[in-house]
Amino acid sequence: MAKIPFGPTYEEMLHPEKMPQDIREKALQAKESNELDPINLFNITWKDESGQVRKVVLPKELTGTEANIVVMLGKYFPSGSHKVGPAYATLIEGCVDGDILPGEHTILGPSTGNFGIGVSYICNLMGYEAVVIMPDNMSKERYDRIRQYGAKLDLTPGTESDVILTLQRTYELKKDPKNRPLAQFELMPNYRFHRYVTGNSAVEAVQGIGNGRIACFTSAPGSAGTIAAGDQIKQVFPEAKIVALEPYECSTLADGGRGQHRIEGIGDKMCTLIHNVNTTDFVALIPDDDAVRGLKVTQDGAAILQEMGVSEEQALALRDLFGVSGICNILGAIKMAHYLRLGPEDNVVTIATDGFDRYPSVLEDLERRYLETEAFVLRRWAKDIFLSKNTDHVYDFRDVQAKQQLYRQKEKDWLPFGYSQAYLDDMRTPEFWQREFGKIQDYDREILRLR
Ligand SMILES: Cc1ncc(COP(=O)(O)O)c(C=O)c1O
Repeated sequence: MAKIPFGPTYEEMLHPEKMPQDIREKALQAKESNELDPINLFNITWKDESGQVRKVVLPKELTGTEANIVVMLGKYFPSGSHKVGPAYATLIEGCVDGDILPGEHTILGPSTGNFGIGVSYICNLMGYEAVVIMPDNMSKERYDRIRQYGAKLDLTPGTESDVILTLQRTYELKKDPKNRPLAQFELMPNYRFHRYVTGNSAVEAVQGIGNGRIACFTSAPGSAGTIAAGDQIKQVFPEAKIVALEPYECSTLADGGRGQHRIEGIGDKMCTLIHNVNTTDFVALIPDDDAVRGLKVTQDGAAILQEMGVSEEQALALRDLFGVSGICNILGAIKMAHYLRLGPEDNVVTIATDGFDRYPSVLEDLERRYLETEAFVLRRWAKDIFLSKNTDHVYDFRDVQAKQQLYRQKEKDWLPFGYSQAYLDDMRTPEFWQREFGKIQDYDREILRLR
C-alpha cells in the first residue's frame, strides 16, 4: 500500500462528514479491517459513523451527584487513544512548514506512553522512521504497542514524574540534524488540535443533556494538550470552569509539590509550555490509588455497581472504557460537581484518554499490593471513592495574584530549555493564544492544497 503523506484537516477531524464521501467510507471500512492502512488517518476524530461524539453519561448511582458527568471516549481513536490526534497534527504541520521531509528525517516522540504509541502509529502510516523516548517504568502494554507499530524505543530512567529526563534526552538527540522532535509539551499543534477538535466536540457532546451547556470541564494535564479544549468551551459557554487535575502525590501546579505516583500520562512535575494557565480556574488533587482502585471497580465490579442501583446494562457497558487517568478525570469531575454545587441541569465534561486495554498489568499489580479484592473490598472502594462527596484539595486560581504562581512555575520549567522571558511574558496575554489558534485556517488550506 502506497503511503499517503497527507491526511485530514482540522476541520475534517472535527466534522468528518465534510470529508470527500469516498474517503470517509474507505476510512470507516479500514478501521475494521486493517488498522495499518494509511487511510485510517481520516479516522482521527471524536465522532462515530453517524457523526455523534463518542461518550458516556455516567449513572448517577455511581457518581453520587445530580449533575450530569459526560465522559468523552478516546479509546475509539486509531491506535486506541486520542493522543494520536496531537501526534498527527504536529507531524502534518511540520510537513506543511517544509520542516519534516519523508525519507530524510527521523521523528522523535518524547512521551510517557500514549503519545509515543500515537507517534509510532502515525509514522508507520505516513512512512517515517520514529524513535519514542520514554521512562523505563511505565505499564508494559505501552512498550509492546510502540514496538508493534514499528518505532524504536529510547528509554530514560524512572516513571511518569521523571518525564523531564525524556525532555533532556530529546534535546540531546535533537542536535543531530536528521532528527525532528514532535515536542508535545512545547509545540502548538497539540494546543490547536485540542482547542479546535476536542473543544468543539465537547460543545456538541452535551447537546440534549441537561441545559445543553458546559458548567465545568476537568482534565488532568500530561502535556496539557487536552485541557486546551477548555479555551474553546469558554468561548461558547463563558461561565464554564476549567479545572486541571493532579495526583495528590505530585501537586506541582497546586503548590509546587513533586513526587512519584501511579497515574500514567499525567502529573509530569511541570507546567508545560503549551498550558494556557490564563484560562485554568481551579486545580484539584486526586489520590493516585483512588484512580487505580476506581478502575478496578468499573472494570470488575459490575455486581457491586448493580447493588448501588446501576442497571446491569449500564454497569457492563462501563467495562473497558477507561484507563487510570480516565478514572482520575471522572473523580475530578465528581469532586467539582460537589464543590460548585451543580444540579441536574448542569453538565460536567471530562475525557477518558484511552481504554482498559493498556492497563491489565496495572490491575495485576493492584492485586499483588492489596492481596484481597473480594466483593466486600470492592463495595467499600466504590462507596469511598465515588460516593464520598469529598471536596478537599481544590485550589482556586481565578485571581490574577494566584495565577502568578503558575506563571512562575512555567518560567522555572522552561527558561532552562532556552525559551526567552519575552516569549513567556507574551504567553501571559490572551492575544498570544488567539494568534496561535488562528493559524488553523492557514494549515487547513495548505493541507488541502498539498493533498
Ligand atoms: C493516559 C493519559 N491520560 C492523560 C494524558 C494527558 O493528556 P494531555 O497530554 O493532553 O494533557 C495522557 C498524555 O499522554 C495520557 O497518556
